[in-house]
Amino acid sequence: MRSVIRELPGSKIREVANAGVGRDDVLAFWFGESDETTPDFIRAAAAESLAGGETFYAQNLGLPELREAVARYTGTLHPAVDAGRIAITSSGVNALMLAMQALAGPGDEVVAVVPVWPNLTAQPAILGARVTRVPLKVREGAWVLDLDALLSAVTPQSRVLLVNAPNNPTGWTLSRAEQQAILDHCRRTGTWIVADEVYERLYFEGPSAPSFLDLATADDRLVVVHSFSKSFLMTGWRLGWMVAPTALVAELGKLIEFNTSCAPVFIQRAGLAALARADDFVPGLVARMKHCRDTLLPALAAVPGVQVATPPGGMYAFFRVEGQDDSLAFAKRLVATAGLGLAPGAAFGDEAEGWLRWCFASRDPGRLTRGVDRLQRALAALPL
Ligand SMILES: Cc1ncc(COP(=O)(O)O)c(C=O)c1O
Repeated sequence: MRSVIRELPGSKIREVANAGVGRDDVLAFWFGESDETTPDFIRAAAAESLAGGETFYAQNLGLPELREAVARYTGTLHPAVDAGRIAITSSGVNALMLAMQALAGPGDEVVAVVPVWPNLTAQPAILGARVTRVPLKVREGAWVLDLDALLSAVTPQSRVLLVNAPNNPTGWTLSRAEQQAILDHCRRTGTWIVADEVYERLYFEGPSAPSFLDLATADDRLVVVHSFSKSFLMTGWRLGWMVAPTALVAELGKLIEFNTSCAPVFIQRAGLAALARADDFVPGLVARMKHCRDTLLPALAAVPGVQVATPPGGMYAFFRVEGQDDSLAFAKRLVATAGLGLAPGAAFGDEAEGWLRWCFASRDPGRLTRGVDRLQRALAALPL
């Protein structure tokens, strides 16, 4: 086995969740998904497809009608894109891996804005690329970009810049002006931008977060990665897509062949149903998430010793508690003594050590308030 595989770190979120195995009294907010099931109209489309016998291989790049539908949907949020620029993938994380396989090889430099969902930085490492981490900075409890530091880290030697905004775990979101500066700079250095925009609809200050697609031309070295998981409550379905220059998409079909060959047809039918009703469904989901955010954040901010900022996007509160610097140990103690399940900041990189991530996507906002009560009681009883 390659040493890079043997040395991959296990998930610290799983490590905390394993500490709660067999306990049904834990209020769990550790994973990045809602506890709401996928809407019926989406499940019905998959069931109908299966009942109709759609059990065969499909095109590498996805059903043409789904590629068209994704292009139309993209055009409702951003300048029009051609379906030839869309590749359907078996999840967002699969799209990210395909982009990385296509763009970065052994020894290549990949610059990543961190902290970030660990899969983004593990993928280039698996491929033998070198990852240069550019940390966000904390200012008054909120995470912000040091644009100068990022631009000086991206040089003509940098193959890829990886950026996830709205960001998991911090909620940090790129501004339009920052995107423009990054795009201009990467045009000069010849660096590809891989923009993970899977949370673009989970944005609370407009219909969608600022996107590189609003600024770039069809030929820019830009890959934008998307997912059905977050905006359509479809985490378990494993369906995503990417928008990329036509010439890259044409080659990607081959790469998909050697990875998954194609996304399953009945899953793609579910994706078609989701997009057909995106305008009815997504705004309601975002309103429910905003209500969750606005329930959790003030309650959390009122806990003595807690430092937290209201995130403009995503579905996470990212916070720290004074005096609690070992996030893994603290998260495990919260499970053991308070029945509260949170993700440790250390799971997202050393830069986030001492922080905790709380996924606020919940059917019942009352769970969030009960969770804050548990945190408060646990802290009152310190040392835990
Ligand atoms: C930042 C980010 N990108 C991509 C994904 C991948 O989503 P999926 O593979 O479920 O489509 C996630 C999931 O948590 C994420 O947080």
